[in-house]
Amino acid sequence: MAGQISQRFIDDLLARTDIVDVVSERVQLKKSGRNHTGLCPFHQENSPSFTVSHDKQFYHCFGCGAHGNALRFLMEYDNLRFPEAVEQLASRAGMQVEREGGDDPGAKQRQQKREQGVNLLELASGFFRERLALGQGSAARDYLERRGLSAEIIKAFGIGYAEDDWEALKRHLSGQGISEAVQVEYGLLVHREETGRTYDRFRDRVMFPIRDWKGRTIAFGGRVLGDAKPKYLNSPETPVFHKGRELYGLFEARQANRQLSRLLIVEGYMDVVALAQFGIRNACATLGTALTSDHLQRLFRLVDEVVFCFDGDNAGRQAARRSLATSLPSMIDGRQVRFLFLPEGDDPDTLIRREGPEAFENRVTCANPLSEFLFEQAAEGRDLKQVEGRERFVTAVLDALKQLPAGVLKSLLLKELSVRSGIDQSQFSDWLSNHSAPSQPSSSDGEGFEALMPADDAERGVDSFSGLASDIGGEERDNRGSNRATRHGAPASRSGAATLSLSLPARILHLLMHEPGLVSELPESLDWCPKAMPDGRLCRDVVQLLRAGRYRSPQVLLAHFHGSPDGERLDQLARRELAIPRDVRGSELRDWVRHLERESERLTPAEEYRQLLEKSRQPGALSSEEKQRLRELIGTLAAGS
Ligand code: GTP
Ligand code: MN
Repeated sequence: MAGQISQRFIDDLLARTDIVDVVSERVQLKKSGRNHTGLCPFHQENSPSFTVSHDKQFYHCFGCGAHGNALRFLMEYDNLRFPEAVEQLASRAGMQVEREGGDDPGAKQRQQKREQGVNLLELASGFFRERLALGQGSAARDYLERRGLSAEIIKAFGIGYAEDDWEALKRHLSGQGISEAVQVEYGLLVHREETGRTYDRFRDRVMFPIRDWKGRTIAFGGRVLGDAKPKYLNSPETPVFHKGRELYGLFEARQANRQLSRLLIVEGYMDVVALAQFGIRNACATLGTALTSDHLQRLFRLVDEVVFCFDGDNAGRQAARRSLATSLPSMIDGRQVRFLFLPEGDDPDTLIRREGPEAFENRVTCANPLSEFLFEQAAEGRDLKQVEGRERFVTAVLDALKQLPAGVLKSLLLKELSVRSGIDQSQFSDWLSNHSAPSQPSSSDGEGFEALMPADDAERGVDSFSGLASDIGGEERDNRGSNRATRHGAPASRSGAATLSLSLPARILHLLMHEPGLVSELPESLDWCPKAMPDGRLCRDVVQLLRAGRYRSPQVLLAHFHGSPDGERLDQLARRELAIPRDVRGSELRDWVRHLERESERLTPAEEYRQLLEKSRQPGALSSEEKQRLRELIGTLAAGS
């Protein structure tokens, strides 16, 4: 494996890059004063709240809060991982990525390969489109016609056809000088180990290109014309395609709508395309996987409202429960999630053909809001006339609410829960802060939520979800409930939730990752930060780096630690939402430090003694407890010496 990208290189790279150039290659910007402004590419808006600062080399959106440096922008906009973004920026600046432990001659090669890869997929897509139009494509054309798709929609989605030939695409691409190895790597050719032979992965299939934000083809889904298995064949994971992050039809939905405000999430390629055919141009589909928090993040950057469509059968309801669990941590105020259940046996494709677009739109409009679905799930199979049933109902809802960020929605739901259960609201707040989440964080999405899920469902949720939601979930919710407790007592003294809550050094790190400028609030010496506590050492390192002044942004800090366990920990903390209002962050931080100082003082009697002695010089300054403590300390110190 290649070494980590060296920090020196990242610094150099950022110094030689102007974020204004990088952004304006992708977003139309206007100069306004010292900044440049434009329409935010990360959410839908009509008036520009996206600003790019040349001085600070930062972008910031006042609408959705997206912010970062040039690397972050590339990661978000072009959907790249960190090393890919570095490589892209480097090639733009004509630099070669340097890694720890010597130069990495592989990097340039990899970058070239990536470019070659995207080109190659575009070439393949063009080839498939051509084939659909030619003689070989007549059966596929008939098939698409039978499924009611117009030439316009076929064009808008770039649908094509892979002919019934083992080597048609391979011949075409090899003829353009593309090596078979690259064709295999990008999932177009299959390599048979036993025979060493390669052949086209997609044969005799209708081809749906899966495109990234910019409309570049990054993968394909192919459907058989008849009943053969598998019905759909997807590209494998490749350097540019990660199933758990992509949504089919998102690019097309953005193309068709200047002002997207709502996105509809359906199950299949054909559903997306059929809805578009009937004028519903805001649908997209996961690629045969469960919804992930990556998906949601992407969706909520574009719109405030997401409507999930599910089949009316059991599998559909199970998928809906899973999506509910995944959604909870993302539900900050202003966002909406709704659940649409289709009649059994229907999918959006069949339903819209039968009912027409108006009836379908009506269903969407009437879809269950998250709150309704949540209460319904919690009540399912429980007799609310019985005390036990009610108790379980309340527990299930509260478990879910723990995953929800603080805000209006949460208060409303608590109020509603009180009405529905007949239990006074004040009881819930205790419950929310005292009951620990049922499992360790980072085990699965929708954690703390098992009460709503059938056992097998909760387990299966693990496979396809990224750990993100759970990170934001369990621990963070507990912290919020206990901010006050932190001020007044040792956080570790709380029962249950304490094991899940962050150590004070971790909290300080968390705060600094969100607002590095707060480092100036910290005492000059680092004595307050105990190396032995969880995250203590890392906290010291970060404070020192911030002090040194080179890393004023979380992104560059992350870059510094990238690829190490510390980097992962920081990334985790950086992603965790920060619930502390801006204006009290400084005082909160000082409180924590004071608390740690007191803790450490307790550990060194000599210092505590000196401090009390100092204080005792002012007449009447010591309380009676302090006087008692002073006497004790004198005893201890005398005994020790
Ligand atoms: P049509 O039968 O063409 O209407 O497709 P559909 O969208 O109704 O298909 P279905 O409901 O069976 O599947 C929904 C989605 O699951 C598809 O769009 C695919 O993404 C995925 N899927 C279905 N069948 C397969 C399969 O055999 N293999 C894989 N990898 N994915 C599949
Ligand atoms: Mn279908």
